Amino acid sequence: MIASEFKRRRRQLMRMMEPNSIAILPTAPVARRNRDVDYAYRPDSDFYYLTGFPEPEAVAILIPGRKQAEYILFCRERHPEREQWDGARAGQEGAVRIYGADDSFPIGDLNEILPRMLEQCARVYYAMGCNPELDKQISEWVSQIRTQSRAGVTGPLEFIALDHYLHDMRLYKSRSEIKAIRQAARISAQGHRRVMGACRPGLHEWRLEAEFVHECAMRGARHQAYPPIVGGGANACVLHYIDNRDELRDGELLLIDAGCEHDYYASDITRTIPISGTFSEPQRQLYELVLKAQEAAIAKVSPGSHWDAPHQAAVRVITRGLIELGLLKGSLASALKRESYKRFYMHRTGHWLGMDVHDVGDYKIDGAWRELEPGMVLTIEPGIYIPAGSKGVARKWWDIGIRIEDDVLVTKEGREVLTTDAPKGVREIESLMGGARRPGRG
Ligand code: GLY
Ligand code: MN
Ligand code: MN
Repeated sequence: MIASEFKRRRRQLMRMMEPNSIAILPTAPVARRNRDVDYAYRPDSDFYYLTGFPEPEAVAILIPGRKQAEYILFCRERHPEREQWDGARAGQEGAVRIYGADDSFPIGDLNEILPRMLEQCARVYYAMGCNPELDKQISEWVSQIRTQSRAGVTGPLEFIALDHYLHDMRLYKSRSEIKAIRQAARISAQGHRRVMGACRPGLHEWRLEAEFVHECAMRGARHQAYPPIVGGGANACVLHYIDNRDELRDGELLLIDAGCEHDYYASDITRTIPISGTFSEPQRQLYELVLKAQEAAIAKVSPGSHWDAPHQAAVRVITRGLIELGLLKGSLASALKRESYKRFYMHRTGHWLGMDVHDVGDYKIDGAWRELEPGMVLTIEPGIYIPAGSKGVARKWWDIGIRIEDDVLVTKEGREVLTTDAPKGVREIESLMGGARRPGRG
């Protein structure tokens, strides 16, 4: 993402802010994994969206119309000794030169400088509840300022939810954001192809996780957008199964929900494949039902359609299909009314996708489902899950868990599926897995 795009976003936000206001946006803290080992650092998405600044310990400030500087970045100071160990820091000079801040101060000076900036402003745009430490500091500063009211200092009168504005901006993806998501989607699709080629009975779930992650990393995507879900048989019925440690058994299905992050943008793909390389008849019947539901849902993605339309389409197809297969009873109308599908399809059909896998943006506005508009990106991911022992369900359906998930961009004309490189037709999958049953591969 080029610097001018971050600048454009800051401008857009500043145009929306009321006069005499300040926005305060901290990045994410470093997360400790154990003792002196940290998780790979990932900046907060809102913060990064506005700044492009990748280092920890930073706070961005926007004060529209302020003469000396409208965009101030507090960040770490240069530190040659620490940089020798941990890598380069931009420092205050780099914050201005590389990241376009009008001014920059050491993060250690926040305590001293930010209260003075607050004093001058009537409104504070800030996302309360995301950073308890800064929440506390800000409320202390504000109450301190209020005690000085007799000295003529008025200070902030009003707090406004910054995330509300930012999240609406983030919902509409720019050309370069779409490019990043498209690239993440392409890489993940190649990962899914690789898994299909490598899958065979006797391997462990973690082997296929490794195949997926390897393919992504080899293509430049070192981070996953979320921990891969790789579940065979019964594990495919556990929606967020991430243990990925069991052996894959002949005759069962494998559900793999995995997507890389590329250039801070997520992809999110699920494929369900037969471990043997060929679907059994009951597996195929349910698989084709989920696929039909997914296609019906995708067809509902277009401008003017509302957020819930794809879900309703999927629910309708699944309910009708489950009745035809004898898994649900009664008429379509009564089954829909009773929502009896929820026993086998208990999640919704998708979510926004962007810098975060479950991306930001309201799904309803004033109580009504949001209309889809060009530039929005969402997933479409219906499924059917039938754990062993399901009462009143014939054994042939047990331990079948299926989800099919694609990433879809709303376009002016309708939609574009960004994840088509990952096969999902029964025949396509079986032919890609053609050699899966041959022993001794791998
Ligand atoms: N991978 C999480 C989801 O599909 O929502
Ligand atoms: Mn998803
Ligand atoms: Mn997923």
